[in-house]
Amino acid sequence: NPPNLQMEESSGLRQANCRAKGGSSGFKVAILGAAGGIGQPLAMLMKMNPLVSVLHLYDVVNAPGVTADISHMDTGAVVRGFLGQKELENALIGMDLVIIPAGVPRKPGMTRDDLFNINAGIVKTLCEGIAKCCPKAIVNVISNPVNSTVPIAAEVFRKAGTYDPKRLLGVTMLDVVRANTFVAEVLGIDPREVDVPVVGGHAGVTILPLLSQVKPPCSFTPEETDYLTNRIQNGGTEVVEAKAGAGSATLSMAYAAVKFADACLRGLRGDAGVVECAFVASQVTELPFFASKVRLGRTGIEEIYPLGPLNESERVGLEKAKKELAASIEKGISFVKK
Ligand code: NAD
Ligand code: LMR
Repeated sequence: NPPNLQMEESSGLRQANCRAKGGSSGFKVAILGAAGGIGQPLAMLMKMNPLVSVLHLYDVVNAPGVTADISHMDTGAVVRGFLGQKELENALIGMDLVIIPAGVPRKPGMTRDDLFNINAGIVKTLCEGIAKCCPKAIVNVISNPVNSTVPIAAEVFRKAGTYDPKRLLGVTMLDVVRANTFVAEVLGIDPREVDVPVVGGHAGVTILPLLSQVKPPCSFTPEETDYLTNRIQNGGTEVVEAKAGAGSATLSMAYAAVKFADACLRGLRGDAGVVECAFVASQVTELPFFASKVRLGRTGIEEIYPLGPLNESERVGLEKAKKELAASIEKGISFVKK
């Protein structure tokens, strides 16, 4: 190497070692599927997160390129890339949080369940790696169909003897982000002032916005309620159709995933009052998994909140959601058991 390149490399290494050692002030995060449509902007936004000291980017394609690119950002996190199955274990060792956006996205005309055949196997393999290499990590599952991939992850961890329901969360944050945006539009206010609880799951009628519990308190006409419920439940399809075969939501999803991951990390740090909606193992209904508000803390999920009072149309929506959810959950569990 020419002398100045040697110098650059060694001072780069010194900085990396120094920052990695200072890792007690930050968390180690892995993104599995980091070269994808969600993975790339998610990696960029996590590199900008001051709570992250080490960022591992794993994919079966293009991980070195994405890593080289993102590693030039002058933020604190040290970035390392991992390519292909043989590097999965190295990507996972020592991680505090693992985010999984690996898998195929929808095309127009498909349901999220149509992705099951490919994505179930991908999530299963990745979770086997997590069980082996970082069984105490918090896991955020983005890969669809979330209503089935979270039960798959749970079953893999159970088989491996590492299952801790407090550490496994299906990411439904995009439903909340969309609900806040669409409700703010109807009310004519800033979306940052709006908080809409969205419960149930992450597909069609299982996405149940609780419009009677919106903050700030407000009321909607029956027409507004129908419009909002429909738009929130079909937000994903709206993007899939607009992209016309080029995939599904990636940028708003990366934004939502980082919002959610940041909440998990603030919980791990010990911040008080960190509450978000997520699809988790739950006793809020008779189903084994359900999305509702959860409080995040040092051990992951520290409290799961009940649904609160529902109005008549929400009660009807809940029954519809539970029927579809039960089948999707069962499908995920039996995929691993069989
Ligand atoms: P994409 O095809 O652009 O990217 C997926 C990435 O996963 C690719 O880089 C691919 O190489 C990688 N991958 C495939 N198999 C892998 C494996 N075995 N290990 C590691 N990486 C692997 O897709 P995308 O748009 O980023 O979407 C990814 C997933 O996220 C899809 O299943 C999509 O439906 C889902 N999604 C979920 C939400 C949600 O709200 N939870 C929102 C949007 C998209
Ligand atoms: C979404 O809600 O945008 C994702 O689940 C992707 C999809 O297939 O709609």
